[in-house]
Amino acid sequence: MNSDSRWAEYAAYIENYLRRYYEGFHSEPQKPLFEAMEYSLMAGGKRLRPCFVFEFCRMCGGDWHQAAPFAAAIEMIHTYSLIHDDLPCMDNDDFRRGKPTNHKVFGEAMAVLSGDALLTDAFAVAASAKLPKPEDLATAIGVLSQCAGSLGMVGGQVLDIMSEERLCTEQEVLDIQSRKTGALINAACVLGVLAGGGSEKQIEAAASFAGLLGLAFQIRDDMLDVIGSAQELGKAVGVDQGKNTFVRLYGLEKCEELVRKYTNSAVNQLIHFSDHTALEALARSLTERMH
Ligand code: IPE
Ligand code: IPE
Ligand code: MG
Ligand code: MG
Ligand code: MG
Repeated sequence: MNSDSRWAEYAAYIENYLRRYYEGFHSEPQKPLFEAMEYSLMAGGKRLRPCFVFEFCRMCGGDWHQAAPFAAAIEMIHTYSLIHDDLPCMDNDDFRRGKPTNHKVFGEAMAVLSGDALLTDAFAVAASAKLPKPEDLATAIGVLSQCAGSLGMVGGQVLDIMSEERLCTEQEVLDIQSRKTGALINAACVLGVLAGGGSEKQIEAAASFAGLLGLAFQIRDDMLDVIGSAQELGKAVGVDQGKNTFVRLYGLEKCEELVRKYTNSAVNQLIHFSDHTALEALARSLTERMH
């Protein structure tokens, strides 16, 4: 299978899985909540984190379909993080994934609550996973919680807001990014290994890959705010002025160099997995992504 069709298959599978999960709830009286959740969940998105979950599972010799509960949970948490990130009290953005942001369509209260519900439901979905080593399930749920919570993504969002009024040091910018973006990518890669019954060594390698790739990913995200187009990105550009982005820290040219450097280092971690050429190609393609 060529690798492009592999990512398309993973994306279609997770979209179908998510759609089916919520299908049964439409007769509930809180229907508007489900409409708001599905609006953002099904708005597209690259589905990169589910692809990492599935691919790490497959590279560890597992049946990738079995990793769907983890892939879905992480995409739900990621989607919630975007809904809240766009709120007027945070980044105050009007467009996401090519559509008006959740609060623009459903109002702020429903946007907050649909994020809350996606986050909370994600843990029930993750808990339904069947793993080669069933005792790994508790570990996986713990990793997911840590990566999403106060020490992970939420912690990073807080540091991001706290730093808005001043110039951060390089170390501070790295710390913000490793939490706000790196942590969920870390969860995706590590949970993929657990779903595939991988070794301790592979868990460590997946975490290192995620740390480096997450860094490259956020540097590119910051670059796209300057060099990207809103139409291609599906979100507004030029909105990060005054923020502690990597572009402010390093300038565009050095950012481009660092995206390649961190991606190379990330790819080097993949020697612990046989058949990693597709993931290597995906990682390299992200260095030049325009969306
Ligand atoms: C955007 O993530 C937010 C960041 C963490 C930089 P993605 O670029 O993966 O967004 P979608 O899922 O494709 O919309
Ligand atoms: C957000 O980073 C990361 C999240 C935890 C959602 P950004 O604020 O840079 O993400 P975009 O650019 O709005 O997608
Ligand atoms: Mg933000
Ligand atoms: Mg934002
Ligand atoms: Mg951004």
